[in-house]
Amino acid sequence: MKGIVLAGGAGTRLYPLTLAVSKQLLPVYDKPMIYYPLTTLMLAGIQEILVISTPHDLPLYRRLLGDGSQWGISLCYAEQPSPGGLAQALIIGADFVGDDPVVLILGDNLFIGEALRNRLTSARQWVEEKGGGLIFAYHVPDPERYGVVEFDSMERPISIKEKPECPKTNWAVTGLYFYDNRALSIARSIQPSARGELEITSVNSAYLEEGALVVERLSRGFAWLDTGTFDSLAEAGEIVRVMQHRQGLRHGSPEEVAWRMKFLEGKEILRRGIGLDRGSYGQYLRNLFNEESVS
Ligand code: DAU
Repeated sequence: MKGIVLAGGAGTRLYPLTLAVSKQLLPVYDKPMIYYPLTTLMLAGIQEILVISTPHDLPLYRRLLGDGSQWGISLCYAEQPSPGGLAQALIIGADFVGDDPVVLILGDNLFIGEALRNRLTSARQWVEEKGGGLIFAYHVPDPERYGVVEFDSMERPISIKEKPECPKTNWAVTGLYFYDNRALSIARSIQPSARGELEITSVNSAYLEEGALVVERLSRGFAWLDTGTFDSLAEAGEIVRVMQHRQGLRHGSPEEVAWRMKFLEGKEILRRGIGLDRGSYGQYLRNLFNEESVS
């Protein structure tokens, strides 16, 4: 399975923060925002990833993330000339994806929770073996901001509406989508919405109509955060800070995930990384790799 991180958009809701800096490069506590969705894909075992952003911002992503070899992954880059909608990522990424299944994640979505790796691996395996689509839903107090899923009495999904005025449930669709290869042709076949975008909700609805969409609910043990507003951006940073402080373990570190997933050995990660020989981030990694290699 191939992975796509969509990190474009105009970021207008966060002006003036995003006038000069791409939103997904803003800090979430101690790391650039894109580290979190990137490591979510890595935790799913994905090692071939396409980063999509605006022509203006793409060079910054290349500078930050490089070719991925420092984390045992392969990163490619593609431009989205203008924000034509989330489903456009599947059209832009079609050559990269080839005949494989694909997982798309939004560059401003953070997932933190127990057994996340197991949930992600199972989702990936489900789609690889059975086909169709698999998405996650999360209970929120303000569903009108999101894609919203409605379930029948058997808890099967029956509809998904994008930013409905009167949401039927509080279950928001998160920005993480596992699809079989048909997603590419579905994305090509959908029409722009009233706001002129190719909506990912249209792709999900196409799978749903075929009875080929699994919607997994994330329980209250999970934190799903998007960073679309000043408050949610600050909250995301605060959650990461509090959790890291309490446990002494970091979230969203590509070095740590590369090591835990056995993409590379600890000493190789330290050798290839820039600036890991100083600063608290490098110290954390050195301690972690050392600690575990002697235990
Ligand atoms: O966060 C989950 C929600 O994401 C879902 O519940 C919705 O169904 C889905 O439509 C989406 O809603 P948003 O209102 O959050 O989408 P937004 O337009 O803000 O875009 C999400 C991110 O993707 C944002 O960081 C900007 C980026 N983006 C957006 C568009 C439209 C792109 O990179 N390219 C685009 O064309």
